[in-house]
Amino acid sequence: MRSRDGVNTATRTMTNKTFELLDTSTGKKSSLPVRSGTVGPDVVDIAALNKDHGVFTFDPGFMATASTESKITYIDGDAGVLLYRGYPIEQLAAQSSFIEVAYLLNNGALPDAKQLADFTASITRHTMVNESLLRMFNGFHYNAHPMAMVSAIVASMSAFYHDSMDIHNPRHREIFMHRIIAKLPTISAAAYKRALGQPFIYPRNDLDYCSNLLHMFYAVPCEPYHVDPLAAQALDLLLILHADHEQNASTSTVRLAGSTGANPYAAISAGVSALWGPAHGGANEAVLEMLEEIGTVDNIPKFLAQVKDKASNVRLMGFGHRVYKNFDPRAKIIREMCHKVLAKMGRADNPLLELAQRLEEIALKDEYFVSRKLYPNVDFYSGIIYSALGIPRSMFTVMFAIARTAGWVAHWQEMIGDPSMKIGRPRQLYTGPVKRDYTPIAKR
Ligand code: ACO
Repeated sequence: MRSRDGVNTATRTMTNKTFELLDTSTGKKSSLPVRSGTVGPDVVDIAALNKDHGVFTFDPGFMATASTESKITYIDGDAGVLLYRGYPIEQLAAQSSFIEVAYLLNNGALPDAKQLADFTASITRHTMVNESLLRMFNGFHYNAHPMAMVSAIVASMSAFYHDSMDIHNPRHREIFMHRIIAKLPTISAAAYKRALGQPFIYPRNDLDYCSNLLHMFYAVPCEPYHVDPLAAQALDLLLILHADHEQNASTSTVRLAGSTGANPYAAISAGVSALWGPAHGGANEAVLEMLEEIGTVDNIPKFLAQVKDKASNVRLMGFGHRVYKNFDPRAKIIREMCHKVLAKMGRADNPLLELAQRLEEIALKDEYFVSRKLYPNVDFYSGIIYSALGIPRSMFTVMFAIARTAGWVAHWQEMIGDPSMKIGRPRQLYTGPVKRDYTPIAKR
């Protein structure tokens, strides 16, 4: 079946292929159906495995497991392809905007002019947050990490919107989507100002999404602040590139939390917390720390020797990806923008950029990285752009969270809107003690 924009809308297509399974201890056989998506590898449907054979599959880290069916984002990690709703990331980066991408991810199709104007107006008019939420920031210690504040405040939003939290009501889900995309920049800016000890700057509805975000970050009440259009453009690009990435750790966390029927603010807050880790959204912060630690080009060989030494536990941050075993397409786009931003900001001779480029060059020729198919990922360069824009390191992952919110909500909506949705409940291989009797404390 094909929809009007040529997208194959067939789902869970059965193929003629099956996987034959033989339990060698009982001789029992069963055949597992193979299903095809619109593009990408087929999947073996193992639902009958437990029913027929009483066994589970074992796949720590989901190395070979599709946790869900989805129509939102497609990645071909070997070819370096990333599509949002079928559109290549390169085309969206060159021609679209973050707001349009957020609409696309959540609605499945590009908006026409009126739909985009209505969506933009609604997002713009939902940017303010309840004053009580703002006052909550005063309860945080002055040196609280902004991610700690953002995850807590997002979870607290559920205490403010009782009128629109029926997750089974499509209109309530839509209002939630508008609210969370609109308010995340405001909440993030409040976290930033709290850390600086500066007064909070209210959102300005005459500015576009990214200009407003930068204004809330950098304006002070005592003088006017003009947003640099290139800074807003660079930020918009970063948000587009980070907006979704199919079933990554934080998105899977949002789905798992949301699958219990928890309210959507709780689910997104869980996603923010999952994103925080250095193996995920925290990587761009870690890249800058790593570059500073390396210090100069001369130190690169010594650092790479450490990375290759398994006993050291040191990784080349910003390199490697669970899915991309070829260049991350987002890294190519971001690299170009990085040069533009630094040239405009008069920091073309930025020593960290030079160091990053040399490090990339050397690593890409090194057998260790070549044989393991380790390439720079999106975060190898994003931190350098953020610092050129004046965004402090502790805010990098928050910027990522603002972008990924568009994807998180799209996945949450897709899951809740699916009538066959089930609570996510993985099983385990138990290796603990077998049943034993309790020993009273005096006898231990
Ligand atoms: N530096 C050095 N070695 C690495 C790196 C790295 N950055 N990444 C992977 N490897 C090595 C592993 O040691 C392993 O080697 P081995 O086969 O000799 O044991 C091999 O490559 C495979 O690595 P895994 O850890 O099994 O790969 P996995 O898919 O689990 O990990 C991950 C992916 C977490 C992204 C990893 O590459 C990493 O830690 N990278 C650095 C952190 C980073 O940049 N994260 C951002 C990811 S992108 C994002 O979230 C937007």
